[in-house]
Parts: sequence; structure tokens; C-alpha cells
Amino acid sequence: MKFILLSILLLVSINATYLDSKSCAECHDTIYEEHMLSQHANSSLFQDEFHRKMKELNFPTTYKCSVCHIPAANNLDKIVSGKYQPSKTIRQLDGVSCLYCHSIVAVRKSHRQNGYRTTMNRGGIPIMYGNTPDPEESNKHKNLTLPKRFNLFANSKVCMGCHSHKRNDSHDVEVCQISQNLDNFKQTDCIGCHMPKYEGGNTKINRRAREKYANHEFLGIRSEDMVKKAVKLSLKEIDNNHIELTIKNKMGHQVLLQPMRLKYVKTTIVRDGKVIWQNFKKSPYEDKEATFSKLFIDENGKQVYPPKASGIKYYTNLDTYKSKNIIYKVPSLQKGDMIQSTWISYPVRPSLAKELDLHDEDLLKKYIGDSVKLNL
Ligand code: HEC
Ligand code: HEC
Ligand code: HEC
Ligand code: HEC
Ligand code: HEC
Repeated sequence: MKFILLSILLLVSINATYLDSKSCAECHDTIYEEHMLSQHANSSLFQDEFHRKMKELNFPTTYKCSVCHIPAANNLDKIVSGKYQPSKTIRQLDGVSCLYCHSIVAVRKSHRQNGYRTTMNRGGIPIMYGNTPDPEESNKHKNLTLPKRFNLFANSKVCMGCHSHKRNDSHDVEVCQISQNLDNFKQTDCIGCHMPKYEGGNTKINRRAREKYANHEFLGIRSEDMVKKAVKLSLKEIDNNHIELTIKNKMGHQVLLQPMRLKYVKTTIVRDGKVIWQNFKKSPYEDKEATFSKLFIDENGKQVYPPKASGIKYYTNLDTYKSKNIIYKVPSLQKGDMIQSTWISYPVRPSLAKELDLHDEDLLKKYIGDSVKLNL
């Protein structure tokens, strides 16, 4: 009898129960609702059309992307190698799940891409790591707020297993990089900008009477408000034939992260209600200084997707908090001319969206950021 009981106990602790994100809603109702709107909750190939199509085109059988896009999955190694195909289990549908993030204990640094050590499958009552001062006891999990110096949730290092950088396996080409100076991330406060503090407690029954909690929507490129905060533009007339545009990156990372986005400045001169000059004719790519994007090529110079790339065809970026000035030669300026510059941002560059036949409205939308006018 004792033996049977012991075996059952052992089995339970080996097959650590996975607490799905929905189970957190019982107590953390607001955070749960926010999380469900975030890309973290929608990062699996079942929810993200863009991710799914890129995966299917490049890796029809294996799934290395899973370590960041469905990190809570069972048998992750077998999903990576293609022995198991992704399936709609709750651990995969949960994407970057609550439990996964809050079980992270260390970032593993590596050349191709970083990774994590977590306590998620350790068994027993889960410990939630966080940054709440003096957390109240909970009967579903233990809470642990480490001293600031060791606390990944206090210094934003917790983001760096997935968001730091990625190089492709075929040719070691850099696909993305959060900052040109890798160590920069130690100083940038991802949480400060992407988890603004909202009024209210973090649990339904707010026994500690907390006044603020951290928003979990993780707004980014799909938010008009956030895109408005990306860069600051300014315009100056240098002389009768030259204007100067300044682009200041206000973000704690490079302007371009995921390489398949398109971000650019459109500048026009309007005279008597008519556009007499623009910084590009048809495609923003004509103005390489003001167009932030990354295009990849293979050995034959043919444009390819990042996993097959051996080189770069087009690349413009701007590092953390840096500015750049662009001087344009323009037709002789006259009194009454109006010069205008506007920041435009697409989650997927439109030609790629067409190529992949994407339908998700949020991916196809054009987002407008900062805009400046100079009236002569
Ligand atoms: C991408 C990683 C990530 C995911 C996913 C995530 N969190 Fe968090 N969470 C954090 C970070 C980082 C903090 C610390 C924020 C701070 O201190 O400003 C935090 C803070 C918290 C806190 C502490 C109180 C507070 O200030 O908000 C609670 C409770 C919490 N999260 C619950 C959840 C729940 C429940 C979910 C899913 C519904 C979830 N988290 C999903 C990263 C994550
Ligand atoms: C090292 C972690 C990591 C790996 C591995 C990874 N990704 Fe990602 N992926 C991310 C992060 C982080 C983002 C969000 C980046 C951003 O928005 O700038 C992302 C975003 C994306 C997006 C944009 C999604 C959207 O809707 O905006 C696509 C598409 C994508 N990844 C495809 C892939 C594919 C395909 C693979 C596998 C070949 C892969 N990723 C492997 C971390 C990773
Ligand atoms: C039965 C209620 C209950 C459930 C269910 C629950 N929690 Fe909690 N959780 C609490 C309480 C109570 C606190 C302490 C709140 C405080 O001190 O302000 C807490 C605190 C936290 C913290 C903060 C830890 C720290 O040290 O900063 C995190 C993170 C967290 N919970 C994550 C989760 C996640 C993820 C889930 C779902 C897998 C979950 N919780 C489910 C009640 C619950
Ligand atoms: C000073 C504020 C600020 C800091 C610090 C910051 N961000 Fe951002 N981030 C933004 C804004 C604003 C946007 C939206 C504009 C855009 O996407 O162009 C954004 C966009 C993003 C995106 C989507 C961008 C894309 O092109 O795919 C990701 C992913 C992201 N941030 C992650 C992080 C991480 C991880 C950190 C910490 C290293 C961080 N952010 C630090 C302000 C900030
Ligand atoms: C386990 C991996 C993982 C961790 C940890 C993680 N992220 Fe993410 N994050 C992703 C992936 C994957 C995506 C893109 C999902 C998609 O669109 O398919 C993403 C998307 C985002 C976006 C939205 C990008 C957009 O589309 O605009 C922001 C902002 C972001 N993360 C910030 C953070 C911050 C800040 C942290 C640290 C508190 C963090 N992430 C921790 C994997 C992670």
C-alpha cells in the first residue's frame, strides 16, 4: 500500500502539472485578459499566420522556432527535430505562457541565439519568480522576489533569452539583433516601456492593497500609440536648395528588430496644394537613408528568406537612442512651401505580405507615427 502511494506521488511530481495560462485568471483576472491580447499569448503557429507561413515555407518538417514561439511545449526536443509535429495541445496553444515566463531562473547566452533555464518542469508546487515587494502567500504557487542584483524581473534580463539576437544556422548570418552593442541590454529597461504600471492590484482580491500592477499587453509594432513613440522627427531648411531631416530613435533598441518589418520616413514638399517633391518616387526603398528594412540574398544573389541567407542585400538600421541626419537636395524653395515628414510603419513589408498571402488585418495595416511640418 505504502509503495503504491509512493509511486503515485512520484509519478505526480515527475509529470509536473502544467498550470495553463487560463488557470491564472481565477486570481489574476486583469493580467490574464491583457496577456491574452498580447503577441506572447498568440505566438504559436496556430495563432500567428505570419509565423506559420514562414515556418511552413522554410522548415516544413522540423521546428527549431519552437524554443521561443512555443517554449512551454512537452517534448520540445522532439518537436525541434521533427520527430513530433506541432499539435494543438494546451501547452503549445499557450505560446509564451504565464507559467513559462515566471519560471525563468537564468538566461543561457549563446552565439546563434540565447535560451533559458527554467523550473517549469521541476515538479512540486511551482515557484513564481517576479518583482513584487513582499509578496503575499498564495495556495496555488509559491512566490519568490529575489534581491534586485539577482532578479531577472527587475533588470529586464528576463527578456533576453528570446529577444536578444538570432543568427541563421545555414551561414551564421545575423537575422536580428536587439542592439549593436550586445551588452547594452543591461542598461535598457524593456519592462519600463513595455509593461507600463496601471492602477489597481495584481490579484482579484487585493489583500496587500497594492495600487499599481504591471500591464501585460506588451504593446509594440501593432499599436498606434507605441509607433508614435518610436522616433522623433525634425526638419530644418539649410539653404534654398537643401533641407535636413533628423531621425531620433527614442527606443531602448534598434529601430528595426524583426527583419521583415518596414519602417520609413516619407518627406514631401507641397506648393499651392500640389506635391512638387518627394524623397522617393514609387518605393520607399529608393531612399536607403530613411527606410529601415533588411533583405537577404543567397550565394547567387537571389533574394531569399532569412534561414537560407548567406548575405545581405539591403540593410538600414539605427541603434539605441541614436540620431541620424539626412540632407536632401530639393528644388529651389519658395515662401509658402510646406515641408512635411511622417513616420510610417508596417508589421510586414507589403510586398512580402502579398507574397505570403497574409489576411490578418493587424499585420497588413499601415501605422502612422511622428509627423512634422515646416512652413516656409
Ligand atoms: C513575457 C514574460 C511574461 C509573461 C508571458 C507573463 N508575465 Fe507576469 N510579469 C512579467 C514581468 C517581467 C513582471 C515584472 C514587472 C514589473 O516588475 O514591472 C511580471 C509581473 C507579474 C506579476 C506581479 C505583479 C505585477 O506587478 O504585475 C504577476 C501577478 C504576474 N506577472 C502574473 C502573470 C500572469 C497571470 C500571466 C499570464 C496571464 C503573466 N504574468 C504572463 C513577465 C511575464
Ligand atoms: C531565439 C528566439 C526565437 C527563435 C528561435 C525564433 N523566433 Fe521568431 N520571434 C522571436 C521574437 C522575440 C519575436 C518578436 C520580435 C519582434 O517583434 O521584433 C519573433 C517574431 C517572429 C515573427 C513576426 C511575428 C509577427 O506576427 O509579428 C515571425 C514571422 C517569426 N518570428 C518567425 C520565426 C520562424 C519561422 C522561426 C524559426 C525558423 C523563428 N521565428 C524562430 C523569437 C524567436
Ligand atoms: C488562487 C489564487 C491564485 C492563482 C490561481 C494564481 N495566483 Fe499568482 N498570486 C496569487 C497571490 C495571492 C499573489 C500575491 C499577490 C501580492 O502579493 O500582491 C500572487 C503572486 C503572483 C506573482 C508575483 C510573484 C512575485 O514574487 O513577484 C506571480 C508572478 C504570479 N502570481 C503568477 C501566477 C501565474 C503565472 C499563475 C497561473 C499559472 C498564478 N499566479 C495563479 C494568487 C494566485
Ligand atoms: C524607451 C522605451 C523602450 C525601451 C526601453 C524598449 N522598447 Fe521596445 N519598443 C518601444 C516602442 C515605442 C516600440 C514600438 C515602435 C516600433 O515597433 O517601431 C517598441 C517595439 C518593440 C518590439 C517590436 C518591434 C519590431 O520592429 O518588431 C519589440 C519586440 C520590443 N520593442 C522589445 C523590447 C525589448 C526586449 C526591450 C529591452 C531590451 C525593449 N523593447 C526596450 C519602446 C521601448
Ligand atoms: C520565451 C520567449 C520570450 C520571452 C521570455 C519574452 N518574449 Fe517577447 N516575444 C516572444 C515572441 C516569440 C514574440 C512574437 C510572437 C509573435 O508575434 O508570433 C514576442 C513578442 C513581443 C512583443 C510584441 C512585438 C510586436 O509584435 O510588436 C513585445 C513588445 C515583447 N515581446 C516584449 C518582451 C519583453 C519586454 C519581454 C521581457 C519582459 C519579453 N518580450 C519576453 C518571445 C518572448
